[in-house]
Amino acid sequence: MLSVKAIRKDFPIFKRTILGRPLVYLDNAATSQRPKQVIAAVNDFYRRHNANVHRGIHTLSEEASNLYEEARATVAGFINCGSDELIFVRNTTEGINLVVWTWGFDHVRSGDEILVTVMEHHSNFVPWQQMAVRRGAVLRVADITEDGLLDMEDFKKKLSKKTKIVAVTHCSNVTGTINPVSEIVRLAKRVGAVVLIDGAQGVQHIGIDVKVVGCDFLAFSGHKMLGPMGSGGLFIKRERQEEMGPFLTGGGMIREVYATHFVWAEGPEKFEAGTPDVAGAVGLAEAVRYHTRLGMRYIRKHESNITAYALERLRDMKDMQIFGPSDVKVRGGVVSFTIKGIHPHDVAEVLNYRGVAVRSGTHCAMPLHDRFRVPATTRASFYLYNDKKDIDALISGLEQAKHIFR
Ligand code: ALA
Repeated sequence: MLSVKAIRKDFPIFKRTILGRPLVYLDNAATSQRPKQVIAAVNDFYRRHNANVHRGIHTLSEEASNLYEEARATVAGFINCGSDELIFVRNTTEGINLVVWTWGFDHVRSGDEILVTVMEHHSNFVPWQQMAVRRGAVLRVADITEDGLLDMEDFKKKLSKKTKIVAVTHCSNVTGTINPVSEIVRLAKRVGAVVLIDGAQGVQHIGIDVKVVGCDFLAFSGHKMLGPMGSGGLFIKRERQEEMGPFLTGGGMIREVYATHFVWAEGPEKFEAGTPDVAGAVGLAEAVRYHTRLGMRYIRKHESNITAYALERLRDMKDMQIFGPSDVKVRGGVVSFTIKGIHPHDVAEVLNYRGVAVRSGTHCAMPLHDRFRVPATTRASFYLYNDKKDIDALISGLEQAKHIFR
């Protein structure tokens, strides 16, 4: 097992300082940092293998195509789906939009219902709102408990035979709440609904096996899991793929084209129009290997320990309101909070002067902030390279913020 100290050596960014202080990076829910292995994989692709994929029979094109398809197999293996069920996308938002504008548009009719939760990121709200308006469908929103857990009674009440699709996050990017996705899928299947999981905060911190969970769609972002910006994955179950047309059209996603019509390709290619980000896929696969080497169990345990420590330290502070569940068994490494009388942006600014990077605002989750009746929060989010010293730096920065603003 590697120590955090050894892990941090893999991340060149930790060599730099911020305003003269060592970087304490606690904004992992926004984007993660990249290890040298991922940077090298992207670099190596451009230096040695660069060519377009599936388009040439020359050596470089074959190498690039093989690397691209090997990357697909690696990323698919990470969530336990078939290679033919893994589509490369730019990010979670694109993955969700792909489902909304293909499967969603073809299957959701006037009067049908879409069920989301109040803790969704805007990416898992706005596309469904758009579709509801265009199709005359109804968007229903399941509530949370006072603790920030999904209110399963409310969820069950809002789930009915009218529900066509349930779209739910695996882990909230504000409260860290881990949703019982297997149970959600089981309930949804009983009424004949399909399930999309927003895995942006789950895949890399908690891990997921799509076969065990039984979901139809799972979208996730590479940049939040040590991979390149603009890389990501969308799992689409085989049966669902057969019910879907393509999203974007043009080159790459076709089998035959005539002057008046075309026949689309089958499998992932159907959904990957245009030249893909091959280096991005190669880098994402390297990021997956990084997680696999450490083991998802280790990563989850490590982040749980850090989160428990952060919650304990934050709870000891006066005038602190912490959002989300107190039990780390149902909570990922995300902690949002407010300090009475200090604006979250001011808190973030004081922290930045001390080299501590956090996010403040509504974290692309305004409905959840409305539900909590707060205009904004400060958020610290952890990953495999954070340790208790980072939490100590956070706490001492918060003490200073209190001192300055009182
Ligand atoms: N979804 C990202 C976040 O939560 C951007 O910060």
